[in-house]
Amino acid sequence: MKEIDELNEVVKEADEELHKVNDLNDLQQKKAIYLGKKGPIARIMAGMKSLTDEAKRELGMASNKVKDLLENMFEKKKSDLEEAIVNQKLVNETIDVTLPGVQFPAGGIHPLYQTVMELEDLYIGMGYKVAEGPEIETDEYCFEKLNLPKGHPARDMQDTFYINPELLLRSQTSPVQVRTMLESKGEPIKIICPGKVYRRDSDDATHSHQFMQCEGLVLGSDITMADLKGALLEMARKMFDKDREIRLRPSFFPFTEPSVEVDVSCGMCGGKGCPTCKGTGWIEILGAGMVNDNVLRMSGYDPEKIQGYAFGIGVERIAMLKHRIDDIRNFYTNDIRFLNQFKEEK
Ligand code: DAH
Repeated sequence: MKEIDELNEVVKEADEELHKVNDLNDLQQKKAIYLGKKGPIARIMAGMKSLTDEAKRELGMASNKVKDLLENMFEKKKSDLEEAIVNQKLVNETIDVTLPGVQFPAGGIHPLYQTVMELEDLYIGMGYKVAEGPEIETDEYCFEKLNLPKGHPARDMQDTFYINPELLLRSQTSPVQVRTMLESKGEPIKIICPGKVYRRDSDDATHSHQFMQCEGLVLGSDITMADLKGALLEMARKMFDKDREIRLRPSFFPFTEPSVEVDVSCGMCGGKGCPTCKGTGWIEILGAGMVNDNVLRMSGYDPEKIQGYAFGIGVERIAMLKHRIDDIRNFYTNDIRFLNQFKEEK
């Protein structure tokens, strides 16, 4: 029967077409054409009316078979295409777990803060507590109660940023001594106070309008200058190296009597004299002294019963000597090349 031959021909043709199909849309369209109402099978069946009943039956069966066959072929092609898509996706999304990771730049602790942490560690080890105070301070705490009344010539030692006649940016951490004494109500004290201070200085290699100090205050019943010297020698040896010596030179601060300036032996030349220590063998690192009786009295302490020492360390100075930094501005300009040198390797 020629119709059956035609049906077989349709199957052959569909098979060839299917080989060319490579996406699901295309497949859907082809399927609609081959199995649809206007497709080749429908057309062949339309000419069936003129056939005998026997032939009609045979053709009917054959066409159903062909339809099933085509359905299966399209179905098979569909799952082949879907599988290929998944495989392609797997290939595209493969991760090479052996590739080196991406390094994220991480921050480090600022060299000044590292120095503060070392100072804190070492003084906490000697029984001190860490105290804090505000950077916006009153004239009363920053000067008056430190034995620096208004008009006192020593006020000129620190050119201060005033906010108004009573408020200022603290020019030293010494007001924290006053605050701690007022809070401690005559009891013994052993504190350090690291923090920022401000002065109306023009910035250069050794001056900065903002810098850091670490104040110390120890009050008790039998505290002498020998204790002060011991605490400072310990600090110099822990912060620099164990062979360092210190020396105390007479000086003046309104809040201490006697007052001293403290030098550490030069680490560059071992005390022989070199350009760093300007030939003297010594480098100044801080001011200190025995707390002035007036200061004690103004904050509620009886100098007959309790006395002690105070000191004020320049934190930048320590850090600069320790790391041989020759310009204080390096601490404040945030040049990453400078800061990276102080990153601890993990
Ligand atoms: N406050 C002083 C300054 O800024 C440093 C200082 C000297 C602090 C002697 C003290 C001290 O506590 O006893 O120059």
